[in-house]
Amino acid sequence: MVSALVRTILVTGGAGYIGSHTVLQLLQQGFRVVVIDNLDNASQVALIRVAELAGHNGANLVFHKVDLRDRHALEDIFSSHRFEAVIHFAGLKAVGESVQKPLLYYDNNLIGTITLLEVMAAHRCKKLVFSSSATVYGWPKEVPCTEEFPLCATNPYGRTKLVIEDICRDVHRSDPEWKIILLRYFNPVGAHPSGYIGEDPCGIPNNLMPYVQQVAVGRRPHLTVYGTDYNTKDGTGVRDYIHVVDLADGHIAALRKLYEDSDKIGCEVYNLGTGKGTSVLEMVAAFEKASGKKIPLVFAGRRPGDAEIVYAATAKAEKELKWKAKYGVEEMCRDLWNWASKNPYGYAGSPEDGSN
Ligand code: NAD
Ligand code: UD1
Repeated sequence: MVSALVRTILVTGGAGYIGSHTVLQLLQQGFRVVVIDNLDNASQVALIRVAELAGHNGANLVFHKVDLRDRHALEDIFSSHRFEAVIHFAGLKAVGESVQKPLLYYDNNLIGTITLLEVMAAHRCKKLVFSSSATVYGWPKEVPCTEEFPLCATNPYGRTKLVIEDICRDVHRSDPEWKIILLRYFNPVGAHPSGYIGEDPCGIPNNLMPYVQQVAVGRRPHLTVYGTDYNTKDGTGVRDYIHVVDLADGHIAALRKLYEDSDKIGCEVYNLGTGKGTSVLEMVAAFEKASGKKIPLVFAGRRPGDAEIVYAATAKAEKELKWKAKYGVEEMCRDLWNWASKNPYGYAGSPEDGSN
């Protein structure tokens, strides 16, 4: 177990979906946490709730509304804290938008990361955990996807993940003092079991379960199922859904690895998934069961860029991070519904305040 007595972790993008759940776990484990987030895709309410959920450890959370590309602000923050490590979530993540606005994605995700790495190096903070994605496997030739599979990008968002992974490998090669863990997330779903924090996407959700959630609370009339002719059990796409609390735990495991196995770690990559594939229709059925709500469906053609079946090989993370997902789709849907039914308009609280 990591002794977290004096450890301060910088979390970029910590007000967002995965970040807020990870910050809570860090606080509960006794870490001090400094979050920077420009709140482009998040609400500060998430962090207020995280601090409340963390009880007396909530006092160990500091928030700065800062854009990662603002080097002066970043320098100031690094000058006023001594960070043991950085968990870097901040980035834009909407695939469709990245196709429309590639320069925005390259600027935000790449320049943001380069600025962060430069400031970290200048302050001799050289331990990093980075949010990569299963998107780097594209349409895999076989499943489960192991970390050694060939990588590709099918859109600018995915390309930023590939490039940042390469930047991290180069940075480590140039200076072996860097200890970097790249985490390739599969499909995060669900919410903290309290129903107090969860996913609150701005605008129309791109991902399956946030969309289902909005149908269930009456914000959207139906779910469009993209593709019914895949070579899968029921013709719909198969993915590896992972509970966001398990994902947050994976970050603690990665941090622990950076500290405890520091000599063995260079720049290492791990999948964070469950190793199980679930189809769109199976997910909808699990959600209907958990919520008691009927989700009206409209069947449509395939969504461009979508793969047929993607799920993770989990052996490397299990062996080296000693981490394994605990929850299944029932728990994901139960906790998603608990969050959605208590917060139908997310953190905004009402349709007027929220982004529809
Ligand atoms: P999110 O949008 O909820 O969180 C990202 C946070 O980063 C937001 O709070 C946003 O305001 C902030 N941010 C963006 N650009 C910033 C900048 N320049 N400066 C400061 N803050 C900035 O997304 P999430 O789902 O929590 O994802 C976190 C990370 O994990 C992202 O890098 C994402 O690409 C990656 N990821 C997410 C998924 C997923 O399905 N959610 C899957 C794989 C990988
Ligand atoms: C998408 C992104 C991927 C990103 C991942 C996690 C694309 C092409 N890929 O992947 O880059 O890493 O999210 O953020 O956008 N589905 C529907 N109806 C919907 C939404 C989705 O049927 O309204 C289906 C999809 O066709 C897919 C499954 O649900 O079969 C999961 O979709 P989604 O949640 O968007 O995740 P990914 O496709 O894995």
